[in-house]
Amino acid sequence: MPSEKVVLIIGANSTLGLNIAYRQIESQDPEDSLTFILTSRSIERAKEAGDAIKTFNDQREATREVKTVPLVLDLTDMKNVLNASITLNKTYKEINYVYVNAALGVCSGINWFRAIQEVITNPVQAVTDPHYKIQKVGLMSKDDMGLVFEANIFGPYYLIRKILQVLSAGKAVIVWISSIRSDPSYLPFNDLELIESSTPYEGSKRMIDVMHLATYKSLKAKGIYQYVVQPGIFVSQSFNVHLNIITYYLMMIMFYLARRWGSYWHTIDPYKAANSPVYVTTFRDRDFERQDIKYGSATYNDGVEHIKPEELNSIGKGQVLEFLSSKEKEWDIRLNVQETKN
Ligand SMILES: NC(=O)c1ccc[n+]([C@@H]2O[C@H](COP(=O)([O-])OP(=O)(O)OC[C@H]3O[C@@H](n4cnc5c(N)ncnc54)[C@H](OP(=O)(O)O)[C@@H]3O)[C@@H](O)[C@H]2O)c1
Repeated sequence: MPSEKVVLIIGANSTLGLNIAYRQIESQDPEDSLTFILTSRSIERAKEAGDAIKTFNDQREATREVKTVPLVLDLTDMKNVLNASITLNKTYKEINYVYVNAALGVCSGINWFRAIQEVITNPVQAVTDPHYKIQKVGLMSKDDMGLVFEANIFGPYYLIRKILQVLSAGKAVIVWISSIRSDPSYLPFNDLELIESSTPYEGSKRMIDVMHLATYKSLKAKGIYQYVVQPGIFVSQSFNVHLNIITYYLMMIMFYLARRWGSYWHTIDPYKAANSPVYVTTFRDRDFERQDIKYGSATYNDGVEHIKPEELNSIGKGQVLEFLSSKEKEWDIRLNVQETKN
């Protein structure tokens, strides 16, 4: 039976967001039509994402019916997050897929001395788990919350909590984009808003992993299936900020060499990076597949893609859930949310 599927991509006009949409178009049942709700902080960028997705669809041999709807969403503005949830609840009876892809990195530069040292002593490690990126510490949002925490975790968490009814009606799949750089050591339990942390980006990715473990079972009881995935290491628009043409091409050479030398996480191509996010939406029997692992996009050393799952460490999951739940209550009061229907 042909049906209309509604796909919410948070952070649509990003390198990975667009490729997720392309792969979703390819992987969906041929008869299904797709409505993409595309979020960005600017309406222009959300519309641009829609144009790119339609162009991709039009260029395929077997086109399908695709609609795109822009939605302005700033995850560091809780009033805006709530308003977006109200719009979604009013406009859609059901939502079938949610990709939490947006992320705020706050890299202020590169410690070039350390970068050269890491590249010389362990080149594969240097382009897999680098420690030479300098991140801004202590950034606060205008909501007076840790900025990276709000953008990467709490904003999307709160949005999902407020649209549970339409997700449940759509038997939705929620996909959170994590990272290979999410070791438990990145999450300080005395600083869960990641304000003092010198690695808030990695801390936020670790928090995604733990939050997922703490919540997927209760979501499943509502008919919603949540997964956590990571895209490997791919070339993103965001890399251009701190690189010039020479360092960009040096980085590319290092990426290809790392893959040749056995680094399966160097997906490099954002289309290959989008493999695991879309893969988890294609499970025929969702009850059969594990949800307590992280599905990774990987490539063999000749560039052929595959999925590589990894076990997740559940340390601190109770503490993280308690913290997020108390923040949700705090913001329900601050935003005067009468009742959360879930
Ligand atoms: N690149 C890699 O190798 C790599 C590795 C591991 C994981 N990842 C993850 O993959 C995902 C996509 O990465 P990417 O490099 O493709 O992204 P990107 O090109 O850097 O784009 C970032 C996205 O996040 C959105 N965003 C940022 N701050 C926001 C905010 N305050 N409110 C709402 N949206 C916000 C941006 O939306 P606007 O349109 O509003 O700017 C944009 O769509 C991210 O979750 C990233 O952490 C990437």
